[in-house]
Amino acid sequence: MARISGHPKQWPEGQGQRVCVVGAGPSGLTTTKTLIEAGLQVDCFEASPDIGGHWVLGNPNGRSSAYRSLRTNTTKRMSRFSDYEMPEHWSEFPACEKVREWLNLYVDHFGFRHAIRTKTEVISAVPREGGGWQLVLNGPDGWYTSDYDALIAASGSYWDPQIPDWPGTFSGKMIHAQEYLDPETPHQLNGLDVVIVGIGNTGCELACEIAKAGAGTVCLSARSGTWILPKTINGVAAAEGVPLTHPTDEVPSELACLAEEDREAFLAQRASQTIKQAHSERMRRFEHLGLPPAPEHPLLKRPTISQDILACLESGHVIAKPAITRLDRDAVVFAPDERVRADVIICATGYKLSYPYLSQDVADTRENDLTLFCGIVPPDRDDLFFVGVSRPTGAFWPIAEAQAKFVAALLTEGYSLPPAREIERRARPMLNRLALNPGLYGLSLREELERGRRRVLEGEELP
Ligand SMILES: Cc1cc2nc3c(=O)[nH]c(=O)nc-3n(C[C@H](O)[C@H](O)[C@H](O)COP(=O)(O)OP(=O)(O)OC[C@H]3O[C@@H](n4cnc5c(N)ncnc54)[C@H](O)[C@@H]3O)c2cc1C
Ligand SMILES: NC(=O)c1ccc[n+]([C@@H]2O[C@H](COP(=O)([O-])OP(=O)(O)OC[C@H]3O[C@@H](n4cnc5c(N)ncnc54)[C@H](OP(=O)(O)O)[C@@H]3O)[C@@H](O)[C@H]2O)c1
Repeated sequence: MARISGHPKQWPEGQGQRVCVVGAGPSGLTTTKTLIEAGLQVDCFEASPDIGGHWVLGNPNGRSSAYRSLRTNTTKRMSRFSDYEMPEHWSEFPACEKVREWLNLYVDHFGFRHAIRTKTEVISAVPREGGGWQLVLNGPDGWYTSDYDALIAASGSYWDPQIPDWPGTFSGKMIHAQEYLDPETPHQLNGLDVVIVGIGNTGCELACEIAKAGAGTVCLSARSGTWILPKTINGVAAAEGVPLTHPTDEVPSELACLAEEDREAFLAQRASQTIKQAHSERMRRFEHLGLPPAPEHPLLKRPTISQDILACLESGHVIAKPAITRLDRDAVVFAPDERVRADVIICATGYKLSYPYLSQDVADTRENDLTLFCGIVPPDRDDLFFVGVSRPTGAFWPIAEAQAKFVAALLTEGYSLPPAREIERRARPMLNRLALNPGLYGLSLREELERGRRRVLEGEELP
C-alpha cells in the first residue's frame, strides 16, 4: 500500500517522475497535456489505433458507445477546455466526428502527440512494493513490462455495457445500445417491432431515430421516471445562460461562502425549483403518456436531455411502456402482465464502471462507483488517480481537465494531501450522489488546492 502523508509527494531518489496515463479519450488527452506542461515525464497508452475514445465512431477498440447521428448534448461553451474552444463557426452541438476532429486539433495545437502510444493496451497494473506501478502492456511489438511512479486511470466510464438479466427466453435479437450504429446497423430495423429499454439520453434518442426510420412499432420501456428536459427552447440551447455549467465559472459569493455540502444542497434546491417551475407541465404530459412519475427532486439523478421524445410519444411513433418483467419467446412481458410481440430488444441500460487492468482491492467498482477524495484520489493511495469519473450537469471534458490539474499539482509538490483521517472523512462515492455541478466542483478543487499549498508551505517551515 502506498504511503499517505501530510507532506508533498516525494519521488524516489534519483528517479525521474515517470507517470503513465491509461487511455487517450478526452480525459486521457487533457491529463497527458496537463502533466507534460507541469514538467512530468508522461507516457499515455491507448489500446486503439485512434485517439478520441468514445468519439471515434466504430472505434476498433470495440468500446465506443457513439452512434452515427450522435451530437453533443452539451453546448460548445460548456464543453470547452479552459485554454481550447471549439471553432466559432461550428454548430452549438457538434456531431461526433467534429468532436473527434477537435480532440485531434487539441493534441496538435499543444504538440503532445509524441507522448501517446496508440495500439498499446494496458493489460495489468500492479502496485510495486513501496509505491509505484508495474504495468504489463501489449503493444505493436508484443507484450512487455514497464514501471511508473504514478498511474492515472483515464480509461473511460461508459464502455462496459450493463445488460439486464430478465427471466425467460427471447427468440428475437437482443443488443446493447453500444452495438447500435444506425437503423440499419447492426440490424436492419425497417418494419420490425422494436423494444428499447431505458429512458436515459441514449434510449430516448434511439427510440425517436428508429421510429422515424420506419420501424414497425417502437416501445420505450422505463422502470423508473426521470426529468426529461429539451435540448433547445425556441432554437436556443436550453442550458445557454444557466450559471455554473463550467468548472471555471465564477461562483457567486453568497454561495461560495457556504460550507461545501451546504453549497451543493442549496444550489440543487434552487436549480430544482427552477426546473420544476419551467418543466412540471411538460413532465405531466410524459406521465399521461405512460412513463413512470419523475422523482420529486429533478437532480436526484441526472436529467435526460431529449428534444424529440415528447413529440414522438404524443404522435404515437413511440409507445411508453413500464418495466419488463420477463421475456416470452417472440415477446416481452411488461409489468404487470402485458405481452407485446417484438423482433428486437435494444438495451439502452447504461454502463458499468470497470477497470479490468486494476485488481478489485485497488479499484473496488462492485457498487458501480468509486469512493474518492475530491473525486480523484483513492483514500489509501497517493500514486493512483482517477480522471473522468463523474456524472455532471454540464460537460464532462472540462471536469476531466480540472481533475488533471489537481493531479499535476499533487505530483509536482505544489500540493500536499491532508492527513489520512481527513481524506477518509471526506472521500465519497463519485457517481451515486446528486448530479455533480461543474461550477461548484471546480470551486471545491481550487479551494482544496489552496489548502494543500498552504500545507506545503507550513511543512517547509517546520524544523
Ligand atoms: C453516447 C454518449 C454520448 C455522450 N455525449 C456527451 C456530450 O455530449 N458531452 C459530454 O461532455 N460528455 C458526453 N458523454 C460522456 C463521455 O463519456 C465523454 O464525452 C468522454 O468520451 C469520456 O471520455 P474518457 O476519456 O473518460 O473516456 P473514453 O472516451 O471512453 O476514452 C477512453 C479511452 O481509453 C482507452 N482504454 C481503455 N482501457 C484501456 C487500456 N487498458 N489500455 C489502453 N487504453 C485503454 C480506450 O480505448 C479509449 O480510447 C457521452 C457519453 C456517451 C456514452
Ligand atoms: N450527446 C448526447 O446526446 C448523448 C446521447 C446518449 C447518451 N449520452 C450520454 O451517455 C451517457 C450514458 O447514457 P445512457 O442513456 O446510455 O445511460 P444512462 O444515462 O445510465 O441511462 C440508463 C437507463 O437505463 C435504465 N436501466 C438501467 N438498468 C436497467 C435495467 N436493469 N432494467 C431496466 N432499465 C434499466 C435506467 O433506469 P434507472 O434510472 O431506473 O436506473 C436509465 O433509464 C450519459 O452521460 C449521457 O448523457 C449523451
